[in-house]
Amino acid sequence: MIKLAPSILAADFSRLGEEIKNTERAGVDMIHLDIMDGHFVPNISFGGAVSKMSKSVCSLQHDAHLMVTDPENYFDEFIEIGIEHISFHLELDCPRRDLGPGRWVYYVKDKVNSNRIVENIDYLKGAGVKAGLVVNPPTDLRHVMPFLDKIDLLLLMSVNPGFSGQAFMPEVYDRIKICNIYRLKNDLGFEIMVDGGVDLDNAGDLAEAGADILVSGSSFFHAPDRAEFVRQIKA
Ligand code: DX5
Ligand code: ZN
Repeated sequence: MIKLAPSILAADFSRLGEEIKNTERAGVDMIHLDIMDGHFVPNISFGGAVSKMSKSVCSLQHDAHLMVTDPENYFDEFIEIGIEHISFHLELDCPRRDLGPGRWVYYVKDKVNSNRIVENIDYLKGAGVKAGLVVNPPTDLRHVMPFLDKIDLLLLMSVNPGFSGQAFMPEVYDRIKICNIYRLKNDLGFEIMVDGGVDLDNAGDLAEAGADILVSGSSFFHAPDRAEFVRQIKA
């Protein structure tokens, strides 16, 4: 059955602890932590302190989505907090595309920094956490294929990262299908997570395409009845 990972970025920060407890009570599967440094993405969110608080009030598994230029600087902190899944972007050391005033997205133009990516995956797995790789919408999927036999989690972005509440990019359906077929053909065990603009209208099609875990920020936190939202997503 499809799993749901609400992104607490869309929660009410004036009562964040209560929001996280309420999220757990609604029956979700894990908590998604969006970590942004204002450089890799055009926004700053939160870091270890808030993530530690979330772990202390909620017994669910957590996944940290590191939208930062130097994820290595944060690995130990998140491992120590007890975050079970840590994901970093494929686009490390790559150029960024301008998306208009104050907006940009990193993408793989020619090649990825393979050594750095493999070292990071090995480091995370060696520390006993699940290693995830994140791919931005403009990055050609062929660049992630060489790493799919090494990772536990593939996070496909369905928005250009940086903000909650952006419009879903339907191109992700074909991208999920391609990765799912590759996974089946090569008998690999990584999970496919989709992040950005997920709601009740697209959840069924995302699951059918091959997604295992859906991240949901605004649609979950703005739902009138969160437990009912979880039931509908899973249905
Ligand atoms: C985007 C983040 C997402 C986002 C999800 O940069 O990685 O996790 O907060 O929020 P919604 O579901 O509102 O797009
Ligand atoms: Zn995210």
